[in-house]
Amino acid sequence: MSHQENMHLALIEDDDIVRQATSQWLQLAGYQVLEFANGQSALDKIPEQFPGIIISDVRLPDIDGMALLPQLLSHNPSIPVILITGHGDVDMAVKALHKGAFDFVEKPFNPERLLETVARAQERRKTQVNSDERERYLEQAEGLERILIGRSGAMVNLRQQLLKIASIDTNVIIYGETGCGKELVAHCLHQVSQRNKHEFVPLNCAAIPENLFESELFGHEAGSFTGAIKRRIGKLEFADKGTLFLDEVESMPPGMQVKVLRSLQENTIERVGGNTAIKTDLRVVAAAKEDLQLHPEFRQDLFYRLNVAQLYLPPLSERGDDILLLFEHYTQQVHSGTRKASPSDQQALLSYPWPGNVRELKNVATRFALDNSLTVGEILAARPNLTTEPSSASLPLAIQVQNFERKVLHETLQRHNGSIIDTMEELDLPRRTLNQKMQKYGLYRSDYTE
Ligand SMILES: Nc1ncnc2c1ncn2[C@@H]1O[C@H](COP(=O)(O)OP(=O)(O)OP(=O)(O)O)[C@@H](O)[C@H]1O
Ligand SMILES: [Mg+2]
Repeated sequence: MSHQENMHLALIEDDDIVRQATSQWLQLAGYQVLEFANGQSALDKIPEQFPGIIISDVRLPDIDGMALLPQLLSHNPSIPVILITGHGDVDMAVKALHKGAFDFVEKPFNPERLLETVARAQERRKTQVNSDERERYLEQAEGLERILIGRSGAMVNLRQQLLKIASIDTNVIIYGETGCGKELVAHCLHQVSQRNKHEFVPLNCAAIPENLFESELFGHEAGSFTGAIKRRIGKLEFADKGTLFLDEVESMPPGMQVKVLRSLQENTIERVGGNTAIKTDLRVVAAAKEDLQLHPEFRQDLFYRLNVAQLYLPPLSERGDDILLLFEHYTQQVHSGTRKASPSDQQALLSYPWPGNVRELKNVATRFALDNSLTVGEILAARPNLTTEPSSASLPLAIQVQNFERKVLHETLQRHNGSIIDTMEELDLPRRTLNQKMQKYGLYRSDYTE
């Protein structure tokens, strides 16, 4: 979503006829034109935060255009100024470029040539205005918005849902690709909940060898098995009154699933080798990369126990302007991070598919901030090629079907700029079904509208 669509322009020209004709050309090209017949009135009336560009004649009755230029730029150095010079004033024009003019156009000028220069200046200005605006947003963001960054419809919605779910204290499943922010969301859920005085205990189900799983989760009494020298408190007990984060929950061995389910049903745990039931009060937040219901290995009953609420994190490539917002956020985090993305850097950021999502973006932003000699395009080109889609052959059919369905919905919504009616029609879906599927896949209309 872009935040500055109006194209503003200030035109300083003392010759009434030339000014009116030029202004008319520019208006026909879609610009809103402020007209000034002399330098002083322009200096008085162009606001410091003028979001557009300035075109000025160099020969003005009151101020010489060359003297006017630094004064205009002292108001706001990022406003592009295009000078119109008399025929043969090339020396002056070159001087103007050195003093910070964006470009110059020689009189008598071809309107097409002027428009082309104006369009380039406008492009640069738009990037700048949007970047200033993003900076202000990042500075002013408060609470959850400061931590879970993003203002795409999907992220705004996610924060709202997160606050709602946090207050009702139920189990939650967070869905999202790698590096999308599942752990961050889980942590936020804990932080804004009533449980925040107690522990947030993460446990990566894919990282624990199966034979250690039980002791890791439930703890053990001294001497309960070879190597169990001391009593150990398991993660579930440790998370009492707090939040247990089961990361990559789809990797939990089936035998463990039964035990975890029982423990959640009864609100108790038993340490390995112990025979007393210890009361626990847990909230479980689980994270998964794919729909758990489609995993034949994942128990239905455990699924239903966890699936009281769901949060879905869309891939970064679908969050539009959030890519630039996060990029700015992470470049600022680097202590020397004054470097800004140029228009072509931004283009590269927006067109990259981000298979590693926010985590990958963070790495790229950090490199960019630390090494002034590299453009975003160069950093991305040097990355290991993760962009080829992982071979889907190894995934269960149901998951491949689901991925495909999501992709079709995303592309159709994109093609119709978020029009629900057109999407319903093209895919021949009833509104209710379309709504349900969009919910399920974390697709939001507002991310597609212009
Ligand atoms: N919306 C966001 N705003 C700010 N930082 C974010 C956002 N989303 C993710 N991050 C950051 O991106 C990185 C990756 O996020 P996180 O570890 O939560 O992803 P994940 O979904 O758990 O990934 P994986 O599936 O690989 O475990 C973290 O440094 C996190 O702080
Ligand atoms: Mg994670």
